[in-house]
Amino acid sequence: MTENEPVREIAPAKINLTLHVTGQRPDGYHLLDSLVVFADFGDRLEIRRAEQSSLRVSGPRAQGVPADAGNLAVRAAALMDWPVHIDLQKHLPSAAGIGGGSADAAAVLRGIHRLSGRPLPNDSHRLGADVPVCLTSRAARMQGLGEDVIPLPALPALHAVLVNPGVEVPTPRVFAHLTRKENPAMPRTLPVWTTADNLAAWLAAMRNDLEQPAIRLAPVIAEVLTTLKADPECVLARMSGSGATCFALTDTRAAAEAMTRRLARPGWWVQPVTLS
Ligand code: C5P
Repeated sequence: MTENEPVREIAPAKINLTLHVTGQRPDGYHLLDSLVVFADFGDRLEIRRAEQSSLRVSGPRAQGVPADAGNLAVRAAALMDWPVHIDLQKHLPSAAGIGGGSADAAAVLRGIHRLSGRPLPNDSHRLGADVPVCLTSRAARMQGLGEDVIPLPALPALHAVLVNPGVEVPTPRVFAHLTRKENPAMPRTLPVWTTADNLAAWLAAMRNDLEQPAIRLAPVIAEVLTTLKADPECVLARMSGSGATCFALTDTRAAAEAMTRRLARPGWWVQPVTLS
């Protein structure tokens, strides 16, 4: 590799198939238990060595994304103490429950690791609770504040449609609207799912405990979920993370694509994906 050749990284969307809030610590942070997977769709980054860190944001979802130290991607470069120029092509909606900012930060950490040989930090959770799981971009169980990442054996691939109704819901406000903070965790030992049907049936008995508080903040999320559940090809519909993005599982990729066409609404971002 020549001196200033960039490395390319994909920052895939993170989907919480489940998100159980199991308690709250005295410092206000919540204890989570979540099954996380990643989409075959995300932001694209080019990262190259520079005198000083800088960021250029482009792409279909660039509007409103900060290009300064307010962006987690820039803070990730500072954490590595290795300045880079980052070209970020934004395809994921922001503040949307699918880890866009965390996935970008994780991609910068991976990129700098590849460029410099510096080790990946073990305190990446300081950038954001979702950064550690985004570093691996592999199916995992996330516990604690989000920093305890237990990698899982590969899950059966799930076909899905992601839908964001165009409202940003800030994570701290969603947590603040949570009324029941001590909910049951997932079973201590997760089953081994052999088919997507198995996994979807198991997921149906689980929850996202942030769904109701997010709906109170942004009632349009309820409208998205009702619309998804009414679709004949929807196997299961749920919100991801602290919202507002929701996902609908379908049996096939073709069904996800057909559903995407049926869901087109002004202001809605709708994306067929495969999750694994
Ligand atoms: O770590 P992250 O930036 O994603 O968290 C944003 C906010 O969400 C935190 O400042 C906190 O208010 C809330 N949060 C929480 N418990 C967690 C993770 C986040 O209360 N486990």
